[in-house]
Amino acid sequence: MNLAGKKIVLGLTGGIACYKAAEFTRALIKAGATVQVVMTEAARHFITPVTMQALSGHTVYTDQWDSRIANNMAHIDLSRGADAIIIAPCSADFMRKLVHGAADDLLSTLCLARPHDVALLVAPAMNVEMWDKPATQRNVAQLKSDGITLLGPASGDQACGETGLGRMLEPEQLLEALTGFFQPKVLSGKRVLITAGPTFEPIDPVRGITNLSSGKMGYALARAAQAAGAHVTLISGPTALAVPLGVTCIPVTTARNMHEAVMSHIGEQSVFIAVAAVADWRVAEVSTQKIKKQATSSPSLQFETNPDILASVAALPSPPFCVGFAAESDDLLVQGAAKRERKNIPLLVGNIGHQTFGKDDNEIVLFDAQGHQALPRASKDSLAVTLIAEIARRL
Ligand code: CTP
Repeated sequence: MNLAGKKIVLGLTGGIACYKAAEFTRALIKAGATVQVVMTEAARHFITPVTMQALSGHTVYTDQWDSRIANNMAHIDLSRGADAIIIAPCSADFMRKLVHGAADDLLSTLCLARPHDVALLVAPAMNVEMWDKPATQRNVAQLKSDGITLLGPASGDQACGETGLGRMLEPEQLLEALTGFFQPKVLSGKRVLITAGPTFEPIDPVRGITNLSSGKMGYALARAAQAAGAHVTLISGPTALAVPLGVTCIPVTTARNMHEAVMSHIGEQSVFIAVAAVADWRVAEVSTQKIKKQATSSPSLQFETNPDILASVAALPSPPFCVGFAAESDDLLVQGAAKRERKNIPLLVGNIGHQTFGKDDNEIVLFDAQGHQALPRASKDSLAVTLIAEIARRL
């Protein structure tokens, strides 16, 4: 995630989720942002300004009448030159204040006095019943129509012991959403379908064969496409990864499941990105019972060929823009160019298998009709952003 050079004002309001704001501050700084923290009186009951000051490296302001502010203009000065104000956690009461244009403490006055080009984002955090109330939902609708971006809330266990919508997003989700917010919307209005992860082909109820793939590249592309304004559907084999915010995920197991899911969603797509490491073969006869070990012999397996999902999509009468991936063990430049032509697709991304499997970074080569272009080693997240820009340019 890259927020280099971004100036963020982080507002904290009263809520137990203030403890997550500490971690979020660290994440923002690690991503390269400058963080100016402003806290309400209520937020100070949950976390101290000392903690937030130590983490952000800047004086934390809490009071409009702070005698340290020479001109008493903190409500003006703090938002000038900022790229965004993000309120996390944002309480139900602070949402009400934003809706009504309140200016009775430093944070609300700061929000009201922000210049029109300073974005305001809020991450609600409250009890499920508070979130559900018509009054809160009216405020949510009003905030949206006022151009304020809502991040979350998430659903799950709450500090009060109840369960449901109202949890603040986790720090890494907030960082992901904020990074995405700043990304150019090059795929605005487009629908993108992505396959990711491995497939798993059963042998019997407890065994199977699979391919090496963590799913990291496919999930990074789903995140980047979503941040670029696309409507993203991710068809994923088994992985240990969290589904990116705002992305629809269809979990599948076998290559045939994946093929079926892709073909039933392909109609409305503008772009298809096949990142999945699909098993080329499946076991012909899957045993319904666990195959028992024999003292003198070992079982022999017969295989059948799985459908080639990418080739099926590329062969449609009017296919979406198709992007394939190739993990080769050697001779990448020759294999990549040949594979792109064989699969009949406009763009293929090549990499060397052992340099990518499970890793957070990668080195890739893009193959198109004009030739190839090698991209320098980078994180999968930043390669995904570059790749989405390359796809958008070719659409
Ligand atoms: N692919 C697919 N369905 C398959 C096999 C592969 O959709 N049954 C897609 C992958 O998601 C990838 C591309 O095709 O985008 C290339 O996969 P790869 O396994 O490298 O290609 P193969 O055609 O299987 O060639 P190889 O002989 O190198 O295995």
